[in-house]
Formats: sequence, C-alpha cells, structure tokens
Amino acid sequence: MNVNLSILKEIKLRNGQQLILRKPLIEDAKKMIEYLNIVGGESDNLLFGKDEFRLTVEQEMEHIKRINNDLNTLMILGLIDNEIVSVAQIDSPNRKRIAHNSEFSISVKKNYWKNGIGSAVMSEIIRFANENSTIRNVSLGVKSSNNNAIIMYEKFGFTKIGVHKNNFNVNGNFDDEILMDLYL
Ligand SMILES: CC(C)(COP(=O)(O)OP(=O)(O)OC[C@H]1O[C@@H](n2cnc3c(N)ncnc32)[C@H](O)[C@@H]1OP(=O)(O)O)[C@@H](O)C(=O)NCCC(=O)NCCS
Repeated sequence: MNVNLSILKEIKLRNGQQLILRKPLIEDAKKMIEYLNIVGGESDNLLFGKDEFRLTVEQEMEHIKRINNDLNTLMILGLIDNEIVSVAQIDSPNRKRIAHNSEFSISVKKNYWKNGIGSAVMSEIIRFANENSTIRNVSLGVKSSNNNAIIMYEKFGFTKIGVHKNNFNVNGNFDDEILMDLYL
C-alpha cells in the first residue's frame, strides 16, 4: 500500500492545523513505537507507561501487516506535519461466534489534546464499524479517573456497562476499569 491509498480523511482542526488520518504502513513501525513510548509517559491512563511499549520494530511491522489484512480491524494514525499525533484501533476477534464484538483503543499526544483530534478519530472508527457488515458491538475499557476520555466516549454514545475492580496498578495506586459499550 502506498501513502495516497492509505489516506482516509484530511481534516482542518479548530486551531487551523491540518490533520491527516490514514492507515499505518509498515514503514511507520519505528515511529509508532517511539510515539507509544512517549504517550505512555504523558498520562497514567494507558496500559503502559513511558518506555514500556516493548514491541520490536519487526514485531510492530507484523502487527501492521496483520491489521491491514483483516477486514474487521482498522488502525488509524493521525498525523500533523508528518508527525504521529494519534494512534487508534478497532480490533475484532477471528472466531466466528464472537467476531461481531470489537475492542476500541485511542491515544493522542498531550501537546495536541483538546483540538478535536480524539473526536475526529472516533468518528472515523465508528463510521468504519457502521459500514462493516460483521461488527455490531464496540467495547472499551477506561480508567475510572480518566474523566476526559469518559466524557468523550459518552459523547459518541458509549454507555457504562460494568467495572473491573482495581484493574489498574500504576506504581502501587490501584484504580477500577470502567467497561463501556456501543451497540450499533
Ligand atoms: C482522551 C483523549 C484521547 C482525548 O483526545 P482529544 O484529542 O483531547 O479529544 P477531543 O479534543 O476531540 O475532545 C473530545 C471530547 O472529550 C472531552 N474532553 C477532552 N479533554 C477534556 C478536558 N481536558 N476536559 C474536559 N473534557 C475533555 C470533551 O467532551 C471533548 O469534546 P468537546 O471538544 O466537544 O468539548 C486524550 O486526552 C488522550 O489521549 N489521553 C491520554 C490517553 C488516554 O486516556 N486514552 C484513552 C484510554 S481509555
């Protein structure tokens, strides 16, 4: 796949910056690992902290190949001036009996928060899920103290459906995981 074919959408943000949403290419693997190791340290809200995203470039390349070949899975990179500012994914299991249940995850680089990037990416992911004939349910897990994300998910129609008690352990501080679902 070349860069032009990978582009899903170009959006002008509130602050005038141009955001490109596109599928990842295998050449993005190294920059994606660098990005994830940075954003991991920018909040306590992801499943990994600073420099804790431990895939090798080869493993990340394999991951990109797998998701780009899976019709029920989509990864979106958000780029501003060629810099990765967001990575999001909707992933569906292969097993036929549960293939309609997808999992969603997202991060945006801290310098770019509150500019509408998270919302733009979510709209694109939900559009993909709606147009996909297999996906019916979109699920996610969010740290109970992550109000910004919870407000955003509710804005897109997700509802709280349960709790995993003390699911997060960030340096000895335990926090619940709120489970949220969107039924298409
Ligand atoms: C959560 C996250 C993805 C939001 O991305 P973003 O680009 O800032 O999102 P947007 O600018 O599109 O804001 C989306 C909505 O979220 C809510 N929101 C975001 N930041 C907020 C803040 N600081 N205070 C209150 N509401 C906030 C608002 O409802 C906002 O909608 P609005 O702009 O219409 O008011 C981003 O903060 C992030 O990556 N955080 C760290 C990683 C993370 O928490 N990922 C989710 C794990 S479950």
